[in-house]
Amino acid sequence: MEARQSLPVWQALEQHATDMKTKHMKDLFAQDPKRFEKFSVTLPKILFDYSKNLIDSKTLELLIQLAKDCEVEQWREKMFAGEHINTTEDRAVLHVALRDKLDTPKILDGVDINQQIASTQQQMSAFCDRVRSGQWQGYSGKAITDIVSIGVGGSNLGPQMVTEALHQYSDGQLTMHYVSNVDGTQIANVLKPLNPETVLFIVSSKTFTTTETMTNANTAMHWLTDAAKDDSIIAKHFVAVSANKANAIKFGIAQENIFNMWDWVGGRFSLWSAIGLPIALDIGFDQFKELLDGAQEIDQHFLTTELENNIPALMALLSLWNTTFLGAQSQAILPYDQSLHMLSAYLQQAEMESNGKSVNWQGDKVDYPTVPSIWGELGINGQHAFYQYLHQSNNVVPADFIGSVESVTPVEGHHETLMANFFAQTQALMQGVTEQEVRADLKMRGRSDDYIDKVAPHKVHLGNRPTNTFLMKRISPRSIGNLIALYEHKIFVQGIVLQICSFDQWGVELGKTLANKIQQELNSGDVNSAHDSSTKGLLTHYHAMKK
Ligand code: F6P
Repeated sequence: MEARQSLPVWQALEQHATDMKTKHMKDLFAQDPKRFEKFSVTLPKILFDYSKNLIDSKTLELLIQLAKDCEVEQWREKMFAGEHINTTEDRAVLHVALRDKLDTPKILDGVDINQQIASTQQQMSAFCDRVRSGQWQGYSGKAITDIVSIGVGGSNLGPQMVTEALHQYSDGQLTMHYVSNVDGTQIANVLKPLNPETVLFIVSSKTFTTTETMTNANTAMHWLTDAAKDDSIIAKHFVAVSANKANAIKFGIAQENIFNMWDWVGGRFSLWSAIGLPIALDIGFDQFKELLDGAQEIDQHFLTTELENNIPALMALLSLWNTTFLGAQSQAILPYDQSLHMLSAYLQQAEMESNGKSVNWQGDKVDYPTVPSIWGELGINGQHAFYQYLHQSNNVVPADFIGSVESVTPVEGHHETLMANFFAQTQALMQGVTEQEVRADLKMRGRSDDYIDKVAPHKVHLGNRPTNTFLMKRISPRSIGNLIALYEHKIFVQGIVLQICSFDQWGVELGKTLANKIQQELNSGDVNSAHDSSTKGLLTHYHAMKK
């Protein structure tokens, strides 16, 4: 397998990066009045402006060439065709099938998966109707009022992030709660105000083996059966979503209450499957379908648009440019929309669990920086917390700014203030302000020369900090479907170019294995003498402090 660095275009990009590092975006904008038109793409529900990156036409040409040389288009076909591109687990990667039209059979490894998907969607739809209409009743005959979704990672972040994002689309029929942490504080706080007679638990776990989820599910089950004093009522209050039906049944979930998912759906790409059941319960199945349709619009865009105008491909290539070629180490996600307050947490898993790796498909160590770490916060809150760092630290942090033209909850005067900041920040990060400008401004304000000498260097903003802007008309099931699918395909393209297997997560295994062993020591009070001195010391103190 040819290493990416040996591609002539990779070397050309390295050369070109040296040249571009001497340029300032402010000058690039001044030189080209059409820069925005050149470096932005508009779809019906979303505008993507990437003109505030340290790029020119040559950068784009080289990046597109890199994508072509890495056969991104061919790999894209393979993913959609269901080839086993998750090579280390020998699986297809077909979350795109979950939002497809399902009108013709799609045979995967001899099975029509469209038929399986359609049948699970029918089950979800009927279930949502029964619960939302009050037909589904708890053990005492009362309608369900509260849903508690138990799951972690991909079995939590997607559903919870979308539930929060689409809160305004819920009729409030049901109150949604999420439990992901094995820290008992979370489940205790969630259960405390609830009435067991009217609670429905969804245990979401692809594997149905995840310790944290199983621990929380057990606690929930005891809470319920202690209150009802009857184990036979479990079927009225527990459903499960899993690819491991046998384990779900063993756990005590009634067979008819199990919603299927499949090994070709990765956990962090699973909100489109029955893992999205809490979303569907909250906003109704019809609006859940709109979310799927929104994602499908992007699947079509990704599949059929040339790379030059293909938003996910551009997102991936720009991230690669900023990270691998220009040296950025992290990437900020900055939504200017309260409803997207969980987006950065969601994308942290999606991007970092997918591409936070350092060996290529063949298992050889790659010696170029791969993906940046992902972090972020609601824009406005971030402005009053860490934006100082974005503007003036020595580290350049490329950032994605995400905002909407209309608020879903209009309150007079608020949205303009929010969006004025949204536009101003990317402008400030791009332009910066020179010492000369600072000095002239202070002089104009009548400041003394001594004061100006002292303060001017502190007020300089170098600018030249890359940002992407995503502008949506408004948050809706479709636009959220658009947005998430854009990032999903970005992750895919990035993995292909970096030669990283984006769909496994072996890096989470070691910690889990060690935790299982250490838990035995915590239970028994012993300390294994083979541990390193730090772990031994910590465990010894833990036992001593417990006494
Ligand atoms: O430990 C990481 C992980 O495997 C994620 O990839 C996954 O989304 C999460 O745990 C939950 O897994 P499951 O759905 O099997 O409980």
